[in-house]
Amino acid sequence: MTDTGRREPPIRLTRADLDALPNYVPGRSPADLARELGIPEAIKLASNEVPYGPLPGVVEAIAEAAAGSHRYPDMGVVALHSALAERYGVTPEQIVTGCGSVALAEHLVRATCLPGDEVVYSWRSFEAYPIVVATSGATSVPVPNLPDHGHDLAAMAAAVTDRTRMVVVCNPNNPTGTFLRRPELERFLDAVPDDVLVVIDEAYREFVTDPEVPDGLGYVDRPNVAVLRTLSKAWGLAGMRVGFMVAQPAVAAAVRKVVTPFSINAPAQAAALAALAQADEVERRCALVVAERDRVTEALRAFVPDLPTSQGNFVWLPLGEGAITFAKACEARGVIVRPFPGDGVRMTIGTPAENDAFLAVVESALSKEIGR
Ligand SMILES: Cc1ncc(COP(=O)(O)O)c(C=O)c1O
Repeated sequence: MTDTGRREPPIRLTRADLDALPNYVPGRSPADLARELGIPEAIKLASNEVPYGPLPGVVEAIAEAAAGSHRYPDMGVVALHSALAERYGVTPEQIVTGCGSVALAEHLVRATCLPGDEVVYSWRSFEAYPIVVATSGATSVPVPNLPDHGHDLAAMAAAVTDRTRMVVVCNPNNPTGTFLRRPELERFLDAVPDDVLVVIDEAYREFVTDPEVPDGLGYVDRPNVAVLRTLSKAWGLAGMRVGFMVAQPAVAAAVRKVVTPFSINAPAQAAALAALAQADEVERRCALVVAERDRVTEALRAFVPDLPTSQGNFVWLPLGEGAITFAKACEARGVIVRPFPGDGVRMTIGTPAENDAFLAVVESALSKEIGR
């Protein structure tokens, strides 16, 4: 206020370009439905979590680590990096951990791009990519998916220019579940110039059953490949926020420079170590999810014949303009799925009972609400 009582024009304190940027939209929660619709116990199939609870030993490890909460965590994340290195057959120098792999995606942009540099990715894909690219001051180059909803690798390779610093390949792709096989991915890696980093995002690797879908870790001996993995999905630690990246030591060292210090808190480090000791149980749970994914896919194809085959723990219903209406109809019937306006709906595979509850609402939601 001035002394005459008039307001001064507001001073701009933050970046104007952020106004145009979408916020990351998390899956809606049962608490949202209880509040808005009075539905007390909605089923959440919206965030690609695995429904079987924390792995054995994880809660105890968190409780034990919590007793030391007055101390900083190990900033070098030494024990976890060495456990990850041993499990995945790489060296600890090749590993960086982050507050979820989404943080590592952002760190990778910051480690590779100066303002105006370009990041190529397929679209539609993980909704955080445009956000982390823009907030880091880089420029997105989204390349439309093929009609089968998968990456158009030829167009992505053609979109690489001398401004491109990074390309993201999401395999299997979130949210469409589509996947790349070995020969096409290798042709693409060969086509991308050596001074452009190819980030293979494998958040859903543990659910892959097609032997032709390559393990990205098989390519990290290439200097310009980095692989992103997460403990949020198959390993059941979404709430603990632990992701990791594997790359050549030079890339890993650069990424470590931009990681916020102490990003991986002590309970998260302990939880991750405890989870990694449960690999057999993870495999068992993933097999349950995969069996359910295949069952749900078959059942849904009666209503949505063009539903793509998924190698993730979710399926994609390409409903176009009907996406929001369908998701709202599911919510009204107590099931939360994830709509992407104008495009489709992603349904996360839950327990058999949860999937049955979803399948029970599908027919009426599709036929009554969007005339399919
Ligand atoms: C493709 C992909 N990458 C990365 C992530 C980030 O996972 P988190 O940050 O929980 O590790 C997700 C989460 O949904 C994802 O779908």
